Amino acid sequence: MRELLNGKKIVLGACYYPEHWEREDWETDLKQMLASGIEVIRIAEFAWSKIEPREGEYTFTFFDEFLELAHRCGMKVIFGTPTATPPAWLTNQYPEVLNADMDGNLYRHGARRHYNYNSAKYQDFCKNIVEKIASHYAGHPAIIGWQIDNEINCETDVFYSESDTYAFRQFLKAKYHNIEELNQAWGTVFWNQTYTSWNEIYVPRKTIGDSTNPHEVLDYIRFVSHSARNFVKMQADIIRKYKKEGDFITTNGLFSNLDNHSMTKESLDFITYDSYPNFAYFVDGSGLSGLRDRKWSQNLTEVRSISPIFGIMEQQTGANGWNSKMEACTPRPGQMSLWSMQSIAHGADYVGYFRWRTCTVGTEIYWHGILDYSGRENRRLRELREFSKILEKLSELAGSTYLAQVGVLQDYDNLWDARLDRWHRRVEEVSREGIFTAAQLSHTPLDYVYLQDSSSLEDLMKYRVLFYPHAVILTEERMALLEAYVDQGGILVMGCRTGYKDLTGRCTRAYLPGLAAKLTGTDVIEYTFAAPEEEKVWVDWEGTKLEAAVFHDLLAPLDGNAQVLGVYSNSYFAGTPALICNSFGKGTAYYFGGTFTKEVAEQFLDKLGVKNPYQEIFELPACCELAVREKDGQSYYFILNYSKEAVTLQVKEKRINIYTGEEWQGSCLLEGYGTVVLK
Ligand code: GAL
Repeated sequence: MRELLNGKKIVLGACYYPEHWEREDWETDLKQMLASGIEVIRIAEFAWSKIEPREGEYTFTFFDEFLELAHRCGMKVIFGTPTATPPAWLTNQYPEVLNADMDGNLYRHGARRHYNYNSAKYQDFCKNIVEKIASHYAGHPAIIGWQIDNEINCETDVFYSESDTYAFRQFLKAKYHNIEELNQAWGTVFWNQTYTSWNEIYVPRKTIGDSTNPHEVLDYIRFVSHSARNFVKMQADIIRKYKKEGDFITTNGLFSNLDNHSMTKESLDFITYDSYPNFAYFVDGSGLSGLRDRKWSQNLTEVRSISPIFGIMEQQTGANGWNSKMEACTPRPGQMSLWSMQSIAHGADYVGYFRWRTCTVGTEIYWHGILDYSGRENRRLRELREFSKILEKLSELAGSTYLAQVGVLQDYDNLWDARLDRWHRRVEEVSREGIFTAAQLSHTPLDYVYLQDSSSLEDLMKYRVLFYPHAVILTEERMALLEAYVDQGGILVMGCRTGYKDLTGRCTRAYLPGLAAKLTGTDVIEYTFAAPEEEKVWVDWEGTKLEAAVFHDLLAPLDGNAQVLGVYSNSYFAGTPALICNSFGKGTAYYFGGTFTKEVAEQFLDKLGVKNPYQEIFELPACCELAVREKDGQSYYFILNYSKEAVTLQVKEKRINIYTGEEWQGSCLLEGYGTVVLK
């Protein structure tokens, strides 16, 4: 049986770096971890030189000794492949393994992730080291699983080395077969970009105005994702040959220009995520929506769209930051546990802390672990011990899955197109944030649902309401699925800019919203984005005022079946339809001519009858997140207080507090940063 994510127990772990400490420290550290509730450690993910100190010279004693000790102490181990940090001897001797910037300047030794996925040389070195590591260590009884590389596409998600150009040409040849097809797909007739041979094609390079052919860039992003996936698969295939039955393969993090769903499906047992919620204070300013650390729930929502039950490989424990950039302060008392519970609420059955002890050297001296440099007892360690006691009470909910009746449809073609196309990005960002924030603040559990080749009607039928906010790129296959969903009784909400591009990014000449016209009963007659200096534009939806922010599709009903629900109430197009609903089979499709800000999204949730579905049971302040996990018909309600103040919850129907076994009903107090799980 798998040691983690086996439906039996929620497990705590930590990241440990034996190579950062004296051998004498190991046993003390291992015992202290075990005594604090840590049962699993991840090791070795950057330690190539400890195994191959010089080209072709191997020594296994360092980790042999460590694994023996771990085993003796009863600590279980996730072993990492070290390919995120190639040794100096390698990059110096074979600079072709390095990634480059757009001007071709190589990224040199001294940081990490400076390699490229496509260098045949690097692939050979990686195959070799993974083969050596897996064949030597995989049988060790302390090992329970494997992490491939570290944070694929972190640090950079673009690759401009020579190897990438060669591989890009291969990728394009396999996709288009002949150069005429490529010219057609990339619209190279525009600005005389026509290619006559594959050798004229490069990964995007410096151009005037920093604008490269958008169809090319879209394919380039697909190529980056393809390269990363192949790199992961190459390693997974080797590990799979040697690993013990039940040992798992994963990788950590969620980064862009990467189809994480396909990567997980083809190479991993499940995905793990690295959760640092304090960044929301600093990287994203105060958080556009004011959600701050709670905004991390959006990332966790993404993670569980990949693996409904997942692991956290790195959960924040201390202040964050490199010596050179990024910073986030020390979690306040209670926040480490709050954020751990946030992960669990969304489906994490393993929470590994980053890291046990804070490193005393290198770029990450401010990226704190549970213990500071000295390793002395501290507040965070005490909090961990308390938390691990609570967790023991939660074993029964291991294996339960997050429950939502509202979903937001996404697909990689549109996500990637929004990265390179500013009109697309402009609407996408507003709605992504708006819908998520509205759901969070109104206590409406929400899923992200990725449309993939394997998506089925059954996947969609789980949801009463699906938003597909700005499906700029649509395909006939995806439309057929959406039509089947609505036909079977689903409610689909689409927004402005739907359906004007195909998979290559070419604009359709059909009347908009293109392939979605029939389902939505909508004809887009004209459109404009909102002029920044103009007054806000409003829509009157049967007495409710909605702002049509950012963009305005001016609509008309396609036929007598489509019903106009709302019209623009000001601007030169006042009186023009802005919201149309179309009954289709047993369900209904809505087309809204604007974006889904928080207020607009909340109105939709409300009018469609899916807002705050647990209001009969709870009345919660907005600062609390409500998440529900379910197993065997039993619901577990997580209530997480992100505010530093204590709050009062109204529990209208009696529930049991799993932490204490007490009954909760009526006014119940939740302390600042407090959490509770009720059933
Ligand atoms: C993660 C990474 C870790 C460590 C940590 C702090 O992104 O996986 O190796 O670097 O951040 O920077």
